[in-house]
Amino acid sequence: MQIDSPTAREIGVFDSGVGGLTVLRELRRLLPDARLRYLADTAYAPYGGRSADDIRARSMAITEHLIDCGAGLIVIACNTATAHAIEALRARWPALPFVGTEPGIKPAVAATRNGRIGLLATSATAASARLRALIDRHANGREVIVRGCPGIVEHIEAGDLDSPLLRRLVEEHCAPLRQAGVDTVLLGCTHYPLIEPLWQAALAPNVELLHIETAVARRAVDLWTPTGGNATLQVETSGDPTTLQDWIAQVLGWRGLHVQAWAHENNNGQQVLTA
Ligand code: DGL
Repeated sequence: MQIDSPTAREIGVFDSGVGGLTVLRELRRLLPDARLRYLADTAYAPYGGRSADDIRARSMAITEHLIDCGAGLIVIACNTATAHAIEALRARWPALPFVGTEPGIKPAVAATRNGRIGLLATSATAASARLRALIDRHANGREVIVRGCPGIVEHIEAGDLDSPLLRRLVEEHCAPLRQAGVDTVLLGCTHYPLIEPLWQAALAPNVELLHIETAVARRAVDLWTPTGGNATLQVETSGDPTTLQDWIAQVLGWRGLHVQAWAHENNNGQQVLTA
């Protein structure tokens, strides 16, 4: 399909799972008339423990699908996929606008009073050259302490947003940031705002938490040309649609949404990688 064809009128949004719904929620608020399609790659979540090659392969297959469905703009509602795949996606589809999701180093530098910033992210994001370059470019002499947080996304995907086990894990990941005395913390994974009270409780009450989903949605608004027609919201998953539907109803309160199954295969009918 041609990206500029009359049918290219959807905004395609994707994440490894439910995290990108925090971005989708903002997009719905800011663009109430848009046609939105969200793909949760649940069968392959979490991305945070995967290799860069796997993350790129999944992002390519998903983008291809979103384009086939009529996407004229892709929002990568995932820091991990942005860190490892956005360059490859832009190279493969140079005419298609992409909005990535990256920790807001610049706003954190503006917000910090003591010059010490914490950044919580998935292991794959924390290890990425792109994040390192972002920090080098924008930290402006401030100290940025990056903490990879394995284990968190699994809880959130399973609908556990507050259990003793999750609290303990959050505590463990926040300990080095507390010790470093950070006064500003970036939530560098779109899943993390869903458990914001837990992060806040594990850090000091005066630590400012920053997240990025509103800025990402605003960037999408800037790039989007309204196409007319009625607003639509399609949600698809490579995992179990009923589980995701229940998660969305319980956590976001969006009832009556019919989540569809997406066969997570590439165009040749081959599975891209094994879950
Ligand atoms: N929500 C994603 C992010 O922003 C990915 C989390 C994961 O799958 O590990 O990085």
